[in-house]
Amino acid sequence: MPTPVNALLIGSGAREHALAEAIARSPKLGTLYATGTSNPGIAALATPIDVPAETKQLYRLQQFCDAKKIDLVVIGPEQPLADGWADKLAQAADGSHRRLVFGPSAQAAQLESDKGWSKKLMRAASIPTADARIFTDPDAADEYLNTREELHVIKAAGLAAGKGVIVPNSLEESLAAVDQIMRQRAFGSAGDSIVIEERLQGREVSVFAITDGATLLMLPSCQDHKRLRDNDTGPNTGGMGAFCPADTLDDATLERIESDILIPTLDTLRRDEIPYVGVLYVGLMLTPAGPKVIEFNCRFGDPECQTIMTRLESDAIDLLSAPAAGTLDAVNVSWSTDASVCVVLAAEGYPDRPRLGDEISGVPDAQAMPGVTVFFAGAKLDAGRLVTAGGRVLSVTARAATVPEARELAYAAAAKIEFKGKQMRTDIASGAAAPARTRL
Ligand code: AMP
Ligand code: GLY
Repeated sequence: MPTPVNALLIGSGAREHALAEAIARSPKLGTLYATGTSNPGIAALATPIDVPAETKQLYRLQQFCDAKKIDLVVIGPEQPLADGWADKLAQAADGSHRRLVFGPSAQAAQLESDKGWSKKLMRAASIPTADARIFTDPDAADEYLNTREELHVIKAAGLAAGKGVIVPNSLEESLAAVDQIMRQRAFGSAGDSIVIEERLQGREVSVFAITDGATLLMLPSCQDHKRLRDNDTGPNTGGMGAFCPADTLDDATLERIESDILIPTLDTLRRDEIPYVGVLYVGLMLTPAGPKVIEFNCRFGDPECQTIMTRLESDAIDLLSAPAAGTLDAVNVSWSTDASVCVVLAAEGYPDRPRLGDEISGVPDAQAMPGVTVFFAGAKLDAGRLVTAGGRVLSVTARAATVPEARELAYAAAAKIEFKGKQMRTDIASGAAAPARTRL
């Protein structure tokens, strides 16, 4: 018997619950520890840690990893990656050995955490992306906008919890966006510099690949739904649902994305001695001139991860260890031929001001349906009652032979769950056709 693998999972959302569930299925797992055990779903699968999980005291988490003989650290969210957790936790506190971390170094994570840096890298590598200018002075930004006639997208360069992108519909709105980000500092230091981008037209898709900086392992195609309400109306959210596989990309477009975008990005990083280890998430616009990058993220999408991990049939520990272990070219990965659909249940007031503390009923009934997994996000146990504790409360995820069947099952399960003010789109994965491509 090989030695069991002890793992530490960082993060507390439904994405991390889905990762925890996949890791817990591995026969190789020794003990799974997690920082996010305030999430009842993660708590049911993992042992809580007894040290603080914060950047200022990261050495304590590092010592914890040594004491518990952690072999693999999996980092879900972008903030700890931007704060250098992957760099630090990859080393033993006394420097005696290294451990495997799934997630890029702080330098590589700049692809997401510094949109200006990312834009410059794309420019240097001739990667197709929206034309852009970077500003650190709001007056200069205003002056630039005043000379232009076309529409723009205004982005805080730093991490802003998914809220730092404004898509204005007039010059006035563009100027107001600059003011909000740079003068009123709506996103704090994330708005010290901004990127003013050409507004691209087309269909939006995303692509996920696991990589060690050289080898690319494309993940199954999936699609999220970002707007709050049906028919893509209402405010932008982190994602109200997703399905996998998606019919959004044909083989030829996917190959073009690999050869014109993913490979040159990794090559450029490697040339600069910044190997990218983990999952690379590329948001793209399919423009008439071909696919162009809207953004890079250095983590799994949420809720896309819930649909991807639900379809993973091979060993999650093998897959998540492979980039850091340098075994990605040899890892055995297989996906279920089933499709998966995730429907997010959000709290009243999400995304602006979600109401917290509403009692949630029906989760055990939903969970009991074959093929259904309810992943927890903004939900917690309060004196034995399950209550809402965040904007996106639950990710109801179903697996079935086809997308329409998985969709029906996910909605049947979601209908069993109630809480006051529950928000849910009714059109997740509706009209999704069979994928028009043969891979994954
Ligand atoms: P992000 O927070 O970076 O995911 O951006 C939020 C949304 O803004 C994206 O999902 C796109 O719909 C939109 N967006 C971002 N950049 C552009 C662009 N250059 N052109 C058109 N839409 C964009
Ligand atoms: N679902 C979009 C994201 O995770 O950013």
